[in-house]
Parts: sequence; C-alpha cells; structure tokens
Amino acid sequence: MARKIVITSGKGGVGKTTVAANLGMNLSLLGARVALVDVDFGLNNLDVVMGIENKVVYDINDVLEGRCRVKQALVQDNGHKNLYVLPSDNLRATSAVTGQNLKAVTENLSPLFDYLLLDCPAGVDAGFHRAVSCADEAILVSTPCFSSLRDADKVVSILKSYKLEKISLVANRVRGDLVAVEKTLSPKDMESLLKIPLIGVLPDEDDVMLYGAGFSPASRIGRAFRILARNVEEDTRRIYDATARYTGFFGQIKRGLRRSV
Ligand SMILES: Nc1ncnc2c1ncn2[C@@H]1O[C@H](COP(=O)(O)OP(=O)(O)OP(=O)(O)O)[C@@H](O)[C@H]1O
Ligand SMILES: [Mg+2]
Repeated sequence: MARKIVITSGKGGVGKTTVAANLGMNLSLLGARVALVDVDFGLNNLDVVMGIENKVVYDINDVLEGRCRVKQALVQDNGHKNLYVLPSDNLRATSAVTGQNLKAVTENLSPLFDYLLLDCPAGVDAGFHRAVSCADEAILVSTPCFSSLRDADKVVSILKSYKLEKISLVANRVRGDLVAVEKTLSPKDMESLLKIPLIGVLPDEDDVMLYGAGFSPASRIGRAFRILARNVEEDTRRIYDATARYTGFFGQIKRGLRRSV
C-alpha cells in the first residue's frame, strides 16, 4: 500500500507543485513507484511543470465522473519509468469532486504505488480539506517570509485535527546569503516557530523558475531535493546547508555579488 502524502502550504505560490514534482522524481530515482496526483482543481499545473501536458488524454475528473478507469488516466513521466501523473483539468465543472470519491480514487491507486503525492491547492477551503482527508501524512511547504509562516502556522493546527501519522516541514526558497548574515529566518528558526520536524531545505535558485523540475543531480537544487527524498524514504533528518557557499572569505565575496545583481 502506498504512503499518501499531501503537499500543502496555506499561502499560495510558495512551492507545493515544485516540491511534489521534484520529490516524486527523486523518490522514483531511489526505486520507488510514485504517482503525483493533482488535486488542485481549477488552478492545476502539475502536468505543465512535469512537461507531460501533451500526453494527457483523460484526467481525474474523467475518473471521478466514470468516463475512464484510474489506470487509463495515469500518464507516465517522460524520463522516469516508475513515475506517473494523475492530471487534473481546469476547464470543467468539479461538481463530482467530493472528499469521498477522491478518497476512492486514491484507495484504488494505493496498491499500485509506493507513494501517492497529492499536490494540494492553496488556502484552507474545501479543496484543502478534500486533499488532506485522502492522506495519511503531510508535508508543509513554507518560505521564510512572515506571511507564509503565519499561514503555515494556521495550517499546522488544522492538520493536527486530522490525526495524520506525520506532519513535516520543507523550508523553500531559502536564501543562504541572507541566512548567513542573520537577515532572514533560518530553516531551524522556521522549525522552532512551527513546531514540526524539518525534513527539507531548498535553496532559492533561478533554475527552478527556468526549468520547474528535473534538475541536474550535481546542481545545488538537485542535491537539496535528493536529500529531501532520502529523508522521506529513510526517515532520516539530513539537512541541506544553504549557507555553506556563503561562509568564509570566498563566501563573503559571493554574498556581495548576489546582492549586487
Ligand atoms: N526554490 C525555489 N527557487 C526559486 N523559485 C522557486 C522555488 N520554488 C518555487 N519557485 C517558483 O515559485 C513559483 C511558485 O511555485 P509553485 O507553483 O511550485 O508554487 P505552489 O505553491 O504550487 O503555487 P499555487 O499555490 O499557486 O499552487 C514558480 O514560479 C516556481 O518556479
Ligand atoms: Mg501549485
């Protein structure tokens, strides 16, 4: 049976879809069978980030409305054979989408995979509750900015009412240059504020905006995602150090250069 992990945040645009896509890719590289399920009905974009939008024939709405079986709607990723996407559709009405029938879809998928990663919508409305009610674990994505942390804090208390097996934190868009000089909250500060275990630190990198997913394993963001995937798979707490390149003599120069661009 699959581990069902909802990727959530509260605040929008903080990196849920980016985390779902790249965590999924890295888990599949570790040998796991992974399905990414887009439950962000209305504003779905997981298919675009994964680069499989041209391969979509059926989507989750077709499954929910009985036009196809769930296996028919799964789209295999282009580069990872163990990785599949269950896309959503932003054009059609979503009246068939209830917590109960979404749960039925995830239960059907569960025996086929090791992980189901649910890409949750922003906010704490019905879409959020539908997604969380299908999961047994949650990964909360937050950036170090106060608005994101405030929303994340509210989400933590709601998540706790669901009695999930695990709620973990991913600190995204961490600026190592600013953390090194204590101008922004560090991932450890975020962990202390939210009081949930930190399992991932992802640096703020232009590559994410440029490519969305599938980073070189040697790149900083590629390494950070690999560490996150290992932590999820092996239940370890190794953390990517976003400040490493900004400390010492050369680090000071890099900090200066980053601020001047
Ligand atoms: N670590 C990062 N470094 C740089 N840019 C990032 C990083 N993570 C995410 N982004 C950028 O932030 C934007 C929002 O990311 P994403 O779509 O993953 O957020 P989201 O939480 O899924 O948004 P929504 O709430 O709308 O679903 C994208 O343009 C993405 O490229
Ligand atoms: Mg998203």
